[in-house]
Amino acid sequence: ETGMITYDPGFVNTGSCSSSVTFIDGEKGILRYRGYDVDDLAENCEFIEVAYLLINGSLPTREEKAKYTNLLNQHSLIHEDMIEFFRHYPEHSHPMAVLSAMAVSLSSFYPEMSENHKEELSMTVTRLLSKLRTIAAFSYKKSIGEPIVYPRHDLRYCENFLNMMFNSPVCDMPYNDTMTESLNKLLIIHADHEQNCSASVVRGVGSAGANLYAAISGGICALWGPLHGGANQHVIEMLENIMEEGGNIDKVLERAKSKRSPFRLMGFGHRVYKSYDPRAKIAKALCKEVMASLNKHDPLLDLAMELEEKALADPYFQERGLYPNVDFYTGLTYREMGIPTNMFTVMFAIGRLPGWIAQFMEMRKDPHGRISRPRQIYTGPSVRKVVPIDQR
Ligand code: SDX
Repeated sequence: ETGMITYDPGFVNTGSCSSSVTFIDGEKGILRYRGYDVDDLAENCEFIEVAYLLINGSLPTREEKAKYTNLLNQHSLIHEDMIEFFRHYPEHSHPMAVLSAMAVSLSSFYPEMSENHKEELSMTVTRLLSKLRTIAAFSYKKSIGEPIVYPRHDLRYCENFLNMMFNSPVCDMPYNDTMTESLNKLLIIHADHEQNCSASVVRGVGSAGANLYAAISGGICALWGPLHGGANQHVIEMLENIMEEGGNIDKVLERAKSKRSPFRLMGFGHRVYKSYDPRAKIAKALCKEVMASLNKHDPLLDLAMELEEKALADPYFQERGLYPNVDFYTGLTYREMGIPTNMFTVMFAIGRLPGWIAQFMEMRKDPHGRISRPRQIYTGPSVRKVVPIDQR
């Protein structure tokens, strides 16, 4: 009668679903895409094979891979009018804003084909996989005032991206094989992660009947958040601040543990992993490989490893199952490659795109699928009548 409902504050409508795309065991630190361990895929496959696996459910044969490569190349250009869009986009926009805006505007330039025709859907998907990578590289070139570098038919997916990012009329050999192979592995470890925040947004937007481009644009916005895909950028900023303030790691750990401050150790902790994120292990090794290949030494890596060692020895982190997550070392690796901090989450989005597409397609194919509509427990005032404004 009073309308006051008591409820468990921990109640959260997780909007969970069943899915055959990705399996995670957070206690054991296991991550599998369609049954394959992520480190097995990172070691033995190219990113486009993993994208094919997530979207189609099996790894491609040699013939299927050749056809896929050809399709990705065919679709690697974007409409020249879209390049005009870059020219007039506000100068200091975050690349994730550009990526999200360009993703949804693809539907104006490339009408989405019918989902009922396998070939047409495959065309839409391949188009998106290839063009988002081009858009990311073009937005970077625009941001540094350099001429854009067009994709080339003779370069594979990752090499094409690095070439579009770093080649210029005055630069020769802007990347090496280790960078190409490391980028390949980095994109693979980001490719999907079951019902994370951005995948849930993609499913939610798609469940309303919106097209794939719109759903991906929503996923990009969710990923941008510092608690999600934006963390890789914030890890570097955190490490740089620690360095500037004299490298006092104990002080940083105290701040991260304090309830008085909203500060959290960026790149640490995870909603699902209460053990070492298997992707963080791969990223840590890649960071060292890229540095060695470029004959570089970055004191931030030493600081990151010392921070990890101290945090893992700290009871606060141990009791809460807080370990490095995928973002703790990936930013450092991108940084060694010469990718600027504000592009780190764009890299995450390029890697996650096949996973978002796979989640979208699975949701759309669900015969029992319905519009995403979480419910709530109402905690507001009970019914009341409006009174004239002078009596309020
Ligand atoms: C990604 O979901 C996915 O799969 C995401 C992702 C993917 O591939 O899509 O894996 C990618 O988003 C990785 C996470 C990147 N974000 C960060 O690194 C930001 C820093 N991490 C935290 O904000 C946090 O760990 C989250 C957001 C990642 C997870 O938060 P949870 O699971 O909601 O953790 P929680 O808030 O329940 O924390 C439990 C306890 C709390 O302390 P108590 O209230 O129990 O005393 O652990 C503490 C938290 O304060 N805690 C941290 C911490 N993370 C959690 N304390 C200090 N530093 C941290 N990083």
